[in-house]
Amino acid sequence: TDRYAVIGHPIEHSKSPQIHAAFAAQTGEPLEYGRILGNLNDFAGDVRRFVAEGGRGLNVTVPFKTEAFELLEDLSAHARAAGAVNTLIVRDGGLLRGDNTDGIGLIRDLTVNHSFALAGRRVLLLGAGGAARGVLRPLLEAEPAALVIANRTAAKAEALASELATATTHHSAFRRQPDPASQAQADSTTTGQPNTAARAATDVSGCGLEALAGQRFDLIINATSTGLEGGVPAIPDDCLTDSGWVYDMLYADEPTPFCRWGQRHGAAQALDGLGMLVEQAAESFWLWRGVRPQTAPVIESLRGA
Ligand code: ATR
Repeated sequence: TDRYAVIGHPIEHSKSPQIHAAFAAQTGEPLEYGRILGNLNDFAGDVRRFVAEGGRGLNVTVPFKTEAFELLEDLSAHARAAGAVNTLIVRDGGLLRGDNTDGIGLIRDLTVNHSFALAGRRVLLLGAGGAARGVLRPLLEAEPAALVIANRTAAKAEALASELATATTHHSAFRRQPDPASQAQADSTTTGQPNTAARAATDVSGCGLEALAGQRFDLIINATSTGLEGGVPAIPDDCLTDSGWVYDMLYADEPTPFCRWGQRHGAAQALDGLGMLVEQAAESFWLWRGVRPQTAPVIESLRGA
């Protein structure tokens, strides 16, 4: 039986053990998945101990995602773009690799579970902290017409947008990483160059919340921490298009404040982050085991619980 765990502080609330236990049962993969209350002053030591005891992989959550990024040398393009690691893979021989599946989780929930076509749409991302940064690259890869990052502190959104534009121009962290399954195909059909023509089609910008006046979006994603205090970011009442959707990366048992904002302002759909949570877990599971679990039954059972 291979050992995995989620490490965070606090950790009791984490649904990851439940999600991965469901994946293991469904796929028959021989693994156990626990939770570790990380030591705020010794994250590196916790990781070392887990690996020394034979651990095969970790999910990393608040507040250790940035620390994990700094600790690891072998990082995926998604982890580098996010500046954060949510999935740690122990390779044969004990070498550690850091990846980040949060952004893919969001994209899969939107596009696969809910059939929302991101390509060509106008997308507003609220927030410029770690949660926002974590999903930027996969959002850009989905090739929306516009990606506006808006934040209470405008300068942080502007910095994130120009960083994204620079990285895209220089191709540095934004090279598409072939996944193991498509490696052979990628090797034979691409030159390793990113798709710059399509990238250039997305208009990326950053601004303060007040600068949103007069702009309208097909999708508004909330990546701020306002919901934790019961509030919503101060955005204009009319910034959703008629068939626009809202997506709150936060998840709660009741509709989140931002989902309720969407419902009040005519959103065609108001989704919370439960689907994203299960999808990022599935992506981690796949990185570890090379097996893709079905997410729909797990989302359903968590929603019911
Ligand atoms: P996380 O890792 O969850 O992203 P973070 O890095 O602390 O946490 O970022 C929190 C985000 O929520 C920031 O974008 C923050 O805006 P500021 O950069 O202006 O601080 C945003 N945020 C928090 N409280 C907010 C509020 N009451 N209204 C609007 N935005 C808020």
